[in-house]
Amino acid sequence: MKNIAVAGTGYVGLSMGTCFADMGNKVTFIDIDESKIARLLKGEVPIYEPGLSELILRNAKAGRLHFTTNYAEALADAEFVFICVGTPSGVDGEADLRYVRMAAESIALNMSHPLIIINKSTVPVGTGDWVADIVHRSQPQHMDFDVVSCPEFTREGSALYDFMNPDRVVLGSHNPDAAEKVAQLHLPLRARIIITDLRTAEMIKYASNAFLATKISFINEIAAICEKLGADVNEVAVGMGYDKRIGPQFLNAGLGYGGSCFPKDVKALEHMALVHGSHPSLLRAVMDINRDARRWAVFTLRKLLEGKLDQKRIGIMGLAFKPNTDDIRESPAMDIARMLQNEGAHVVAYDPVAMPTALRDNPTLNMAEDTYDLAKDVDALLVCTEWNEFKQVDLARLKQSMARPIVVDGRNMYDVDVMQKFGFIYRAVGKGNLSEEEEYASTTAQNGHYSVPSSYQNGKSSTETNGSEQPEALQEDAG
Ligand code: UDX
Repeated sequence: MKNIAVAGTGYVGLSMGTCFADMGNKVTFIDIDESKIARLLKGEVPIYEPGLSELILRNAKAGRLHFTTNYAEALADAEFVFICVGTPSGVDGEADLRYVRMAAESIALNMSHPLIIINKSTVPVGTGDWVADIVHRSQPQHMDFDVVSCPEFTREGSALYDFMNPDRVVLGSHNPDAAEKVAQLHLPLRARIIITDLRTAEMIKYASNAFLATKISFINEIAAICEKLGADVNEVAVGMGYDKRIGPQFLNAGLGYGGSCFPKDVKALEHMALVHGSHPSLLRAVMDINRDARRWAVFTLRKLLEGKLDQKRIGIMGLAFKPNTDDIRESPAMDIARMLQNEGAHVVAYDPVAMPTALRDNPTLNMAEDTYDLAKDVDALLVCTEWNEFKQVDLARLKQSMARPIVVDGRNMYDVDVMQKFGFIYRAVGKGNLSEEEEYASTTAQNGHYSVPSSYQNGKSSTETNGSEQPEALQEDAG
């Protein structure tokens, strides 16, 4: 049994600390937000993370979990202290480390014996040395300590499962003994443990998140091409995924990534590269494609509504950046809602969990009671978050409530044939526009001659081309 202090009670700190308590350790949470600590002391969990509430209550009852705003109290008999505070995007995308600095200074001022300080927060490469320097300079008198980087790889909505079943534990430190002690803490997870230096451990985290974001932007780029060529991106992803070198995960085309990690981490990595004279062109493309993935929704709705969103009523299905969380940070839905409102649309939204957090962010949003209430008299529905409760919705009842049967599916949640059968005008990501595809098929001329459908030529008149030339849709964008 070890004594662990955790600075920061967000979804990473709370999930990780509670799991360590569940393994039999004594864990004391520290947060500078007194209201958060007060709620936790009353057994209220300030974040929505499936299963976390029950786990906290059980371990608090067993006396393994404690909550305080007092660092001295939390560190009194701790051997380890995890820094799990937020590192939001700052100027130019650089990670804002003010909360890491505050935690490091508080640890230095309140430690009464040697400690192992563990950076769990996602921090720029080199932050471990920066934290050590802050602690050295802030200690009233010298006291031994080590800094270990132990990046988190947990996803919101499945943080408990991901922590208890890691693909790997990454540890970085200048002192291998300190890293070994932190490795011992993780032994019950029976996972592969990689021990390396501080900077490499910090880079593994950024590179991992940036790669996952790249995979998502890659499939969204393929989706955009599939849309022009009438291929089905979901089937493409399935065909790709059987290749063990590619794998099936993170190939879901849609409105792209949001959340508190990918957007911030890709930007932070770009910033790190730039300030050190590197040219992160791939990371920039990943961010550009992700931005365009959201714009696709607005463009498609505008196209289906006679080119004008002004005074149109749009229902948004899902506000959280992904299912099973109430987190709306960098959520595509929130971005798209604002873009629609900026064009004069009346936006109404429904999300099973995230409406309160969404209203705090955009009080002009109208909220519906449920999916059917949302559908009432809308000109179109837009799927932004693939919540389970949307998947088996009564489509006939939905269509009956709508003013127009237009559904734009930003998460490819529904089946094209089923939606067509119910009489919806349905658009998904990377499925090609059936009517345009049929038009394309019907205009394919004999003897290798064909004209690219006018809609592929952005309104220009269709041109006769022979079979040898690339269709307009594939030619370099002349614009
Ligand atoms: C991510 C990483 O997965 C996790 O390892 C890291 O520790 C924190 O950041 P998280 O942001 O919580 O976790 O959620 P994740 O499930 O990775 O989804 C991120 C975003 O990508 C969501 O907006 C999701 O909708 C989107 N996504 C995910 C896609 O658009 N397509 C996919 O195939 C997968």
